[in-house]
Amino acid sequence: MTGYLVSDSRKVTTHRFIEMKQRGEKISMLTSYDFTTAGIVDSAGVDGILVGDSASNVMVGNATTLPMTVDQMIYHARAVVHGVKRALVVCDMPFGSYQSDRKEGVRNAVRIMKESGCDALKLEGGAEIIDTVKGILDAGIPVMGHLGLTPQSINKFGTYAVRAKDEAEAGCFSLVLEKVPATLASKVTANLPIPTIGIGAGAGTDGQILVVADMLGMTKGFSPKFLRRYADLNTIMTDAIGHYVSDVKTSSFPSADEAY
Ligand code: KIV
Repeated sequence: MTGYLVSDSRKVTTHRFIEMKQRGEKISMLTSYDFTTAGIVDSAGVDGILVGDSASNVMVGNATTLPMTVDQMIYHARAVVHGVKRALVVCDMPFGSYQSDRKEGVRNAVRIMKESGCDALKLEGGAEIIDTVKGILDAGIPVMGHLGLTPQSINKFGTYAVRAKDEAEAGCFSLVLEKVPATLASKVTANLPIPTIGIGAGAGTDGQILVVADMLGMTKGFSPKFLRRYADLNTIMTDAIGHYVSDVKTSSFPSADEAY
């Protein structure tokens, strides 16, 4: 293997994320949604695994993340937790589980933590959800924020910096910045005490996250500029499965050695 060798095999905590920012060590994150993939991602040395609501697109084939439910997130997160020894496991709170009011947000947050065994939760949004974020933090649950810029507000650094600061001041341990222009993401990162994790936000954030199926080249037809493909698993899997089909059709599988 030519990968990164992890020198510290202790379980990664939210506190370690902050320490990594303080000593200038970049934080690596990937998504996972199942036991087997999470085990591989963890043993390769990733610092944090996000059980993202991108499971909706990647695992179920939905066009958006909106249909994911609390029960479905718990199911995926529990599978990931079972496969992970070292990485910090963060689970997305799905759309509709925290937007209506603080009480419902806290109730769903507690349920996800209790039933999945994950280490922290991620919530999308800014000032409109700060009260709920505070409630979840008050319940003792670590929260990762998630902000992204809409194209119309791309130049509003003032507004954006304030939103990021709100999340840090509320007590979030980290903040995902999605598709934020690189210069803005760098400025926000420099102004925050908590680590920023970028996706399509340039090299100036404290860490990076990608959707695992995208970076492994399992998905096709999704090629944003920020995506680096580290493998072409789609071709590898299709070839392997094609060989299997052919072996079955020609009776070359199973051989005598592969039978009892
Ligand atoms: O759901 C997800 O995969 C995410 C990442 C894109 C950060 O939120």
